[in-house]
Formats: sequence, structure tokens, C-alpha cells
Amino acid sequence: MGQYNQGIPQHVAIIMDGNGRWANKRKLPRIAGHREGMENVRRIAIAADNLNIKVLTLYSFSTENWKRPKDEVNFLMRLPVVFFNKFVPELVERNVVVKVTGFLKNLPTATLKALEDAEKQTSKNTGLILNFAFNYGGKAEIVNATRQIAKEVLENKLKPEDIDESVFSNHLLTNLKSLNDVDLLIRTSGEKRISNFLLWQLAYAELYFTDVYWPDFTEDDLSKAIIEYENRNRRFGAL
Ligand code: FPP
Repeated sequence: MGQYNQGIPQHVAIIMDGNGRWANKRKLPRIAGHREGMENVRRIAIAADNLNIKVLTLYSFSTENWKRPKDEVNFLMRLPVVFFNKFVPELVERNVVVKVTGFLKNLPTATLKALEDAEKQTSKNTGLILNFAFNYGGKAEIVNATRQIAKEVLENKLKPEDIDESVFSNHLLTNLKSLNDVDLLIRTSGEKRISNFLLWQLAYAELYFTDVYWPDFTEDDLSKAIIEYENRNRRFGAL
């Protein structure tokens, strides 16, 4: 299974970190950093498409982000509304498929509607999958899958001995969206943590960290990460 010079990663995931510090450096409020970060989502989605990446998953709001000040949470909840109002026509034109992965039930109505409308309006497209991890947490996802599986066992729909990696994986939020595991994870802003992102799906991902703050992360930075990925040697546990 050893692979050399494996080419472009199919699934790239990004922890878009550093919006607050980007704003702070410019003596702007933190939300200005999130606004610029949102603009950069558009730029990097186009760049990913140009590079022939198939799936781009962006950590847009984590289950832990609710602990932030109320004003900041409210602002982050508005971002999908602003983003999709502004960019859905362009996404449709560029053949982008929007997907949303996360716990959507408890979101404000307007946020949920913006996310679901964007999914609907782009569902016939066939190009880049732009997957927003929104109200997403890796541990919560694993617990949720376990709960579903336990229910199916109790209802005699599944035997305990039939639970394997594939069955488990099928109960994850990403699999409900038909998304494969991640090939390359990028985290911006110099932090070197996974922060509860796609814990299962990152099992064999290559990890790439850059000091650049998310709003400053460019197409060239993405290309650099891809080139480094291409030069790594993924063995998936084999020799
Ligand atoms: C982390 O930076 C970033 C976030 C919590 C929000 C990320 C969201 C976007 C970039 C926009 C998403 C767009 C849509 C359409 C949903 P931070 O605030 O932790 O930065 P800091 O570590 O410098 O404080």
C-alpha cells in the first residue's frame, strides 16, 4: 500500500485559525478578523478548485466555540447568512457543491436556513465539494455515532459482532455526506493542535502547520502545502 509522489490530495481540511490575532495586529475588533476570514473562504475555495482538489472541509464553528462572548458567537452565526447571500450565485456558476457537516438542530433559524438553502441550491453541481464543518466537534460526532449504533443493536437491526470500522464510519456525520477521510490537514496561525476536528477522519492525514493567519493565507500558501504533501511518503502503516 506504500505510495510515493501521490499527487494532489483529494480531501483537504483546514483549521482556519488566527482571525482574532489578525484583527488585533491591526487594532481592529476580533469580528473584523472573522469578516476577512470569511472573504478568504471564497478565495481559497476558488484556489482549491483550480488546484483540482475534490473536497475542501473548513472548520467554521466548533461545538466549543459557544463558549466565546455572546457578541462574537452572534457574529459567527451571521457569517453563513452573509456569505451565502453574497456568494451562492458564484458558487452555482463555478459548479461548487456546498455541504454542511455538524449538529445543525440547535442553530439559530436564519443560520440553519442559509446553510440548508446553500446545500439545496448547489446540490445539482458536480465540481468542488465545499464542506463547512459548522457546530462540529469530533468527540461529539463519535459519541453520536455510538449512540446510533447502540440503538440499532437494541432494535435488533445490527449485531454487536458486525460492528467494524466500516459500520462505525458509516454512522459518522461525514459519511452521511458521502465524504472520504482527509488526506491533508492544514492549520494556520502557528498553533499545532487538532482541536477536536475530524478525529476519526484524520487517522492517516498528513498534517501541515503554517504561521500565516487565516485571513492572510493565500493561493500560494495552499500550493506550498500541496507541494509538501506531494513530497511526503504515505505508507498507511505498511512499509
Ligand atoms: C478561529 O480564529 C476562527 C473561527 C472560530 C471562525 C472561523 C470562521 C471563518 C473563517 C469564516 C467562516 C465562513 C462561513 C461562511 C461560515 P480565532 O478567532 O480563534 O483566532 P485567534 O486564535 O487569533 O483568536
